[in-house]
Amino acid sequence: MIYENSLSFVKKLDQSDPLRFYRKKFHYPKNKKGNEVLYLCSNSLGLQPKTAKEFIEKELNVWEKDGVLGQHGRWEKFHERLIHPSARLVGAKPSEVVVMNALTVNIHLLLISFYQPTKTRNKIMIEKGAFPSDQYAVESQIRLHGFNPKECLVELAPRNGEKILRTDDILKTINENGDELCTILLGGVNYYTGQAFDMKAITEAGKSVGAFVGFDLAHAAGNLLLNLHEWNVDFAAWCSYKYLCAGPGAPSGIFIHERHHDWDGSRLAGWWGQNKQTRFEMGPEFDPIQTAEGWQISNSPVMGMTTLLASMEIFEEAGMKVIREKGIEITGYLEYLIQNSLPNVTIITPNERGCQLSLVVPGGRKVFDTISEKSIICDWREPDVIRIAPHPLFNTFLDIFCFVEILKKSI
Ligand SMILES: Cc1ncc(COP(=O)(O)O)c(C=O)c1O
Repeated sequence: MIYENSLSFVKKLDQSDPLRFYRKKFHYPKNKKGNEVLYLCSNSLGLQPKTAKEFIEKELNVWEKDGVLGQHGRWEKFHERLIHPSARLVGAKPSEVVVMNALTVNIHLLLISFYQPTKTRNKIMIEKGAFPSDQYAVESQIRLHGFNPKECLVELAPRNGEKILRTDDILKTINENGDELCTILLGGVNYYTGQAFDMKAITEAGKSVGAFVGFDLAHAAGNLLLNLHEWNVDFAAWCSYKYLCAGPGAPSGIFIHERHHDWDGSRLAGWWGQNKQTRFEMGPEFDPIQTAEGWQISNSPVMGMTTLLASMEIFEEAGMKVIREKGIEITGYLEYLIQNSLPNVTIITPNERGCQLSLVVPGGRKVFDTISEKSIICDWREPDVIRIAPHPLFNTFLDIFCFVEILKKSI
């Protein structure tokens, strides 16, 4: 699309936006004066679907009226209602996904299965500057197995003077580590730079050297079009409180490729992973469900899942294809306006990206504080980045235009 820097152009874009009616399906925050803020922070926490309350109230009512009887046929199967929407979201077969726990917990559970180092194959690869929780998780897993992170952790760093990883360099490092590489765990989209990785190519390279390949999709789920099954990814996990708008601490989803479902290697077991036919017989022997559900440990966090059900209903109705198309356009427009009118702002995010642009702005933190005072909700990440992430379901092109005008004045 050829963009223009004018209000009349912005109006045209908003009028022809196929998702223009979706903003009213979300609670849009207001400032102290009662005016709508400019919410550009879906990389951190998505907005509340208006239906979330009634979804929660429904379960509270069941609990109020039926007590434990709500379990039978309802809560014991609650997570199953999220299986088909989650599968469509990440491009998986229904048997390959389940929603359970929180993200870092799931990363640990997946690494228990997919990082089983031996004397000769014990390395795990992550991006340098991965989200700290991933870094801590991976290093603690290495230590758990009696190895040393200094020897076993391979960190992918950009070339000197560059901020972004080159795919060729990632593939080269995978090949160089070859037989010693046990597991690769990268973000689908890096939380800091907003760079989206070529998950298909990375998986292919990882599989060709015999490694397990997994992705932390915290910044990719509900943002990018994903095709985990076809890309042959071994495992993945994501949270649902960012682009997926399921609310703070909402539960995480996992993907495990079907070729691993009859897994006889290590996993941490619990009763919710037990064969559903015999789960309530309460026997001592663990007979895992032969799908991703077999990795569940505890019974489902029903209340957290209700808000995810509310938001997934909206995602299902709008469709990820349309959401992604608008994501590309609205982020492209943000990039255009910045390049057009703010030559001293550096966008470190490459073209391979989701909806987030990471900006290095002259004045740095001071400018961030100023725009925050002017009711722009975005976030600051040390040492020098302002992250801006429009959401295709509730941000308008006018939001983007106003944001850039305020940023210009604040600089
Ligand atoms: C890329 C990434 N990984 C992991 C996490 C940690 O998620 P949680 O606190 O839900 O475990 C986050 C949180 O923002 C994240 O952005």
